[in-house]
Amino acid sequence: MSVPRDIRQRSEALRKTLEHHNWRYYVEDQPEIDDAEYDRLFQELLALEAKHPELATPDSPTQRVGGAPLPEFAEVRHRTPMLSIANAFDEEAVRAFDRRVREALEVDAVEYAAEPKFDGLAISLTYRDGLLSEGATRGDGTTGEDVTPNLRTLRSIPLRLPKAADTRELEVRGEVLMYRRDFDALNARQRELGEKEYVNPRNAAAGAVRQLDSRVTATRPLRFFAYAISRASQARWSRQSEALARLVELGFRVSEERELVQGAEGLLAYYRKMGQARDRLPYAIDGVVYKVDRLDWQERLGFVARAPRFALAHKYPAEEQTTEVLGIDVQVGRTGALTPVARLKPVFVGGATVTNATLHNEDELRRKDVWIGDTVIVRRAGDVIPEVVGVKSKGPRRPPDRFAMPEKCPVCASPVVRVPGEAATRCTGGLYCKAQRKQTLLHFAARRAMDIEGLGEKLVDQLVERDLVKSPADLYRLDVETLAGLERMAEKSAQNVFESIQRSRKGELERFIYALGIPGVGEEVAKILARHFGSLTAFLEADWARAAADKEAARKDHAQRKKRGEPLRPVPLEGIGPELMDSMEKFLHERHNRDVIRRLADAIDVMQAGARPAADGKTFVLTGSLSSMTRDEAQAALEAKGHQVAGSVSKRTDFVVAGEDAGSKLDKARSLGVTVLDEKKFLELLRKT
Ligand code: IVH
Repeated sequence: MSVPRDIRQRSEALRKTLEHHNWRYYVEDQPEIDDAEYDRLFQELLALEAKHPELATPDSPTQRVGGAPLPEFAEVRHRTPMLSIANAFDEEAVRAFDRRVREALEVDAVEYAAEPKFDGLAISLTYRDGLLSEGATRGDGTTGEDVTPNLRTLRSIPLRLPKAADTRELEVRGEVLMYRRDFDALNARQRELGEKEYVNPRNAAAGAVRQLDSRVTATRPLRFFAYAISRASQARWSRQSEALARLVELGFRVSEERELVQGAEGLLAYYRKMGQARDRLPYAIDGVVYKVDRLDWQERLGFVARAPRFALAHKYPAEEQTTEVLGIDVQVGRTGALTPVARLKPVFVGGATVTNATLHNEDELRRKDVWIGDTVIVRRAGDVIPEVVGVKSKGPRRPPDRFAMPEKCPVCASPVVRVPGEAATRCTGGLYCKAQRKQTLLHFAARRAMDIEGLGEKLVDQLVERDLVKSPADLYRLDVETLAGLERMAEKSAQNVFESIQRSRKGELERFIYALGIPGVGEEVAKILARHFGSLTAFLEADWARAAADKEAARKDHAQRKKRGEPLRPVPLEGIGPELMDSMEKFLHERHNRDVIRRLADAIDVMQAGARPAADGKTFVLTGSLSSMTRDEAQAALEAKGHQVAGSVSKRTDFVVAGEDAGSKLDKARSLGVTVLDEKKFLELLRKT
């Protein structure tokens, strides 16, 4: 049965009108009609669609109410990774940033696109043929959660772009946030209902976006601010400012505070101006973001580690408050460091209520001379751990009126030591100490380490307290029954945790090295080590004294060659200093650690990381998106084979790998006569080398 024409037309008109009012209200912040009028139109459309279900198109405003709850979120791999930005806290760092940019580009002056740094949740939206097809959280930057049904409920997110968009696929990046006034109203309601209040607008927004029940998300006053079009979808814009203007045309909310500024002085003036405007904005910001405006320059600048060289976040100083010290506790961390922590009279600071604040270590504590009963200044910025800045006024001091580090570990009673020249006092208990063991296990299971999903704090607490797990190696001896016997563990969750442990039996060398938790060995260092040694055996049997000497020799050779203008050879273990080598040597030779690593190596199939950087390693540049792998994966695959991946094309580039929607790098490659590989050829080359 076909729908009568007049009804079809009426429903179309209603959809248009309602989306227009959504846009006026949530994007423009200037409603034209009142809520009652909006409701009347909405009900009319609902009634029409109920009668003629074929009228309920996926982009109808009635589809913004949410649907049945999901059992869990699906994972989505970002086609272009969602990176983080380097932070700056002072003017000098901003000047240094501008200097680096100018030097790298070899230009005298740079124009920057500046805008607020929204304190919300990063989101990526994908439009296919003009329709919203996918919305994802940032996750770890490579993989996020598919929260499409939730994001569809945000009225500031267009479900359909006004005309066929510029490319068949458009990926928009931005931030979901909650206005401060909406947050206050939400908390007032929570209070009335006797429900838990939210800590701050960011947490409330993040919680709402990560709701499994999108009908709940629909009731939350969330807004979306767009700040970028993903590199893979860049088409007709040659500047960040143009991309933002285009986003406005497409119906997105973009910060009205955005500005184009010139050079370091322009950046600093913008920072000061926004610092003053900050309290007048309806939403929270924790800094401003600067991006090189020209996109071809962005490409040329490229990336270091996980952050672009063309962008900088300039943060505002953390908020400070005063409160009283109720006690001083000592916590034991993963590497055994004893941290004095002040127990505080609850105080609201930096957007959250704080009850504990770190005092870092014994020296810091003595320098600040903090004691129970004192009134202290506490500081907190965003997700950062709150800290005690200093004493505002001393309380009445009674003996003992000073803090002394315990001589025994407060958790396991092992002796504590303080290594001369080191600030930390450490528990010597190692994995015998339950505090160290818990943190070690959590680190081992972390997403960026062995990625054991479901092995969270509560579970680890029980496993350690019941002595079921004495080291990470014991995880691989757990069975489903044991797990199911724990508190708050349903059969299904026990099964899930068991399966994620089994899944982690196959792991990349770099993740495994990182997971070991060797002091000083973070992700980047683990990557360098994996690439250098190639196999777990080679890493474990490394002769560190020799490695240090070899490195020194290579460095001298490098310097000589540079002076003589000869071709350079890469220095092995670049970025790993003698102290770190020393720390690894100690860790890896400690008998108990060796034992745990040996047992882990039996349980886990640690994948080889490819050979050491091959002498014939080539320089690659990746552009556009590949269908068989993400950019990160392509980079990892190349690096594993001893090749290098650079951010921009130059005469020194050997190959450019061009995926779909390849951008200006491809043009550059052609103009320089650099060999271009399509995906098929690239995969062939990977197989062969
Ligand atoms: S740009 C290549 N602009 O900061 C740089 N990020 O990005 C890509 N953030 O959690 C990001 N406001 O969600 C950019 N105006 C803004 C931003 C912004 C907030 C957040 C972003 C991410 C972090 C790093």
